Amino acid sequence: MAPAKDRLHNLLVLLLFIGCLFVDAAAKLNTTAPCLPDQASSLLRLKASFNGDNLPSWQAATDCCHWEGVTCDMAFGRVISLDLSEFDLMSMRLDPVLFNLTSLRNLSLAYVDFSGVSLPAFGFERLTDIIYLNLSDTGFTGKIPIGIACLKNLVTIDLSGSIHPSFSSLRTLDLSCNPMLSVRLTYFPAGNNLEVLNLAGTNFSYDTPSSFGNLGSLKKLMLSTMGIDNELASLISELPALDDLQLTGSDLEKPVLSWVSNLTQLTNLLLDGYDFSKSVPTWIGRLTRLESLSIWDCSFSVPIPYQIRNLTKLAALEFYICDFSEQTMPSWIGNLTKLTSLSIYYCSLSGPIPSTIGNLIQLEELVFWDTDISGETMSQLLCF
Ligand SMILES: *[C@@H]1O[C@H](CO)[C@@H](O)[C@H](O)[C@H]1NC(C)=O
Ligand SMILES: *[C@@H]1O[C@H](CO)[C@@H](O)[C@H](O)[C@H]1NC(C)=O
Ligand SMILES: *[C@@H]1O[C@H](CO)[C@@H](O)[C@H](O)[C@H]1NC(C)=O
Ligand SMILES: *[C@@H]1O[C@H](CO)[C@@H](O)[C@H](O)[C@H]1NC(C)=O
Ligand SMILES: *[C@@H]1O[C@H](CO)[C@@H](O)[C@H](O)[C@H]1NC(C)=O
Ligand SMILES: *[C@@H]1O[C@H](CO)[C@@H](O)[C@H](O)[C@H]1NC(C)=O
Ligand SMILES: *[C@@H]1O[C@H](CO)[C@@H](O)[C@H](O)[C@H]1NC(C)=O
Ligand SMILES: *[C@@H]1O[C@H](CO)[C@@H](O)[C@H](O)[C@H]1NC(C)=O
Repeated sequence: MAPAKDRLHNLLVLLLFIGCLFVDAAAKLNTTAPCLPDQASSLLRLKASFNGDNLPSWQAATDCCHWEGVTCDMAFGRVISLDLSEFDLMSMRLDPVLFNLTSLRNLSLAYVDFSGVSLPAFGFERLTDIIYLNLSDTGFTGKIPIGIACLKNLVTIDLSGSIHPSFSSLRTLDLSCNPMLSVRLTYFPAGNNLEVLNLAGTNFSYDTPSSFGNLGSLKKLMLSTMGIDNELASLISELPALDDLQLTGSDLEKPVLSWVSNLTQLTNLLLDGYDFSKSVPTWIGRLTRLESLSIWDCSFSVPIPYQIRNLTKLAALEFYICDFSEQTMPSWIGNLTKLTSLSIYYCSLSGPIPSTIGNLIQLEELVFWDTDISGETMSQLLCF
């Protein structure tokens, strides 16, 4: 019996050894994982939604990682990139099976002819890994799906040449607070009804700035001024309905904002992140219809620009993290008699509060937060 046992033992050792050789060999071969079946079936469903057969390599029972326009991650065989821009594709619908490819990082449907098709309201939010989304010249109509705004990893979105035909229904386009996002804007056709355009905190570019001139209904615009050139500035300053402008600068930027003074119809202005220490925004005094002025994170190293006292319609004035370098609050503040709210947070103002502040009889809210103002007239303030 013993020899038989030994033979069995030897056989097991041999099998284990051979098994190890196989594992080792597989690692050495460094093969990439083939396409996962669910990825292939999603792609085939998608292919079926296109007219004609312009994707000949997309065949069942072949490795989808080698299909044209498809790139997989090598380790798992999941589709990470799909670029359909070069195949003269045309479709009457965007099959939602696209959104089953949840590992996608790059998706380009550029030049795929979806003329007249509405972008699906839901689905894009499933593509949580997506970095690059190119829908340029697709002819999609309708609204930009809200799900796109949820895509935290998105760095580039290209909507140029898309979404015009029924653009007239779009009222609000908000792509804000995506600091990594470079937005290549869609063309704004004449007769559009866009009222709110929020591009703050994005790195946007535009092919056809003149289409900004078509934003005849735009009331509210939020923009980072880094990409603004003179042409765009003058187009913006001629927008007839604009009454609320919020501009964000970068610390590196020398603010050239005098064009804003041409927008004399503005009632709300917010300036965020400018260094005014070398160029005082004297132009602000021309915006005499302003009812609300907010200045955030700007440096002055000079007194609060006295031109603000020209803004006699101001109801709300706010300074937040502005460096007033130990200046005192100017006495002309008391001439802004329409003020209902005056807020100054973290601004290194110091000295006494001017007694003229007692003239602000409509004031409902007065906030000095973490500034170094002495309370000489505090008792007066409390006795309004
Ligand atoms: C597998 O091959 C890729 C290139 O094809 C290479 O970058 C990678 O380092 C290789 N991996 C191993 C374990 O050899
Ligand atoms: C796509 O995903 C949905 C929901 O997870 C599933 O029901 C459907 O079968 C998938 N389609 C394909 C072709 O894999
Ligand atoms: C995905 O897009 C990024 C950014 O445009 C690019 O650098 C990268 O090469 C693309 N990857 C693939 C697989 O297409
Ligand atoms: C989108 O795709 C088109 C066609 O491939 C290309 O010309 C364009 O540069 C792409 N946009 C971006 C932002 O990469
Ligand atoms: C903004 O986009 C331009 C190209 O459109 C690029 O050169 C620049 O580096 C981007 N800036 C940031 C801060 O991403
Ligand atoms: C502002 O208006 C003045 C006078 O109408 C004009 O000369 C100037 O070019 C305008 N500035 C911009 C940026 O449009
Ligand atoms: C104050 O406003 C008037 C118009 O009401 C304007 O003519 C004047 O230039 C403004 N002053 C300053 C300092 O901006
Ligand atoms: C500002 O207020 C003072 C009184 O506090 C007054 O004498 C002065 O005329 C006012 N100036 C303007 C421009 O209204």
